[in-house]
Amino acid sequence: MSNIVWHNHKVTRADRAANKHQKPCLLWFTGLSGSGKSTIANALDVALHQRGYHTFLLDGDNVRHGLCQDLGFSDHDRVENIRRIGEVSKLFTDAGLIVLSAFISPFTSDRRMVRRLFPAGEFIEVFMDTPLDTCEARDPKGLYEKARAGEIKHFTGIDSPYESPERPEVRIDTSVMDVDSCVESLITFLTNRELIK
Ligand code: PPS
Repeated sequence: MSNIVWHNHKVTRADRAANKHQKPCLLWFTGLSGSGKSTIANALDVALHQRGYHTFLLDGDNVRHGLCQDLGFSDHDRVENIRRIGEVSKLFTDAGLIVLSAFISPFTSDRRMVRRLFPAGEFIEVFMDTPLDTCEARDPKGLYEKARAGEIKHFTGIDSPYESPERPEVRIDTSVMDVDSCVESLITFLTNRELIK
């Protein structure tokens, strides 16, 4: 980092957000594969977009096709995956957007690292607390079956750990809540925090 100097831009993140009449923030969806991260993040994205908010959705499978296509699922690669997503999420909120990021992000220390990139109140951890049994029964991509058969190694919840958040801002169990109720509770949360009107 020597000989590299930080430049303060003339248009601040507050200026950019004010132009959009919204407050930037990051909703960080974390949970097991099949817990509903992408489904709920997508549904919330649609709901916010329809209300006129400028949002952006970053999603595990998609990001791994580009920005993180060089990364696998070792602990080391997952750490780097989340570091990159955290930095990209930060750039999008600096641009004034409401960002939704949906990644397993199994390690507490990595989620904490992303949280530290943001001013207090702008990082919202949404823990998809759907039981493993339900995720495995859903198995939308057939990955749990492959993991149980030993065809996929280091699969989260099977032979790779998931560290549950202890104090997430929002906790959602999609085995007992339908999509509309989940979206409604997130909209209520954002409204109560005065992040949206
Ligand atoms: S991580 O742990 O945050 O870096 O993972 P993420 O970038 O969110 O990618 C998770 C998606 O990759 C698929 N997949 C796996 N998940 C977990 N463990 C292993 N070994 C694995 N291999 C492939 C899987 O489809 C995940 O998508 P979701 O949407 O979570 O089901």
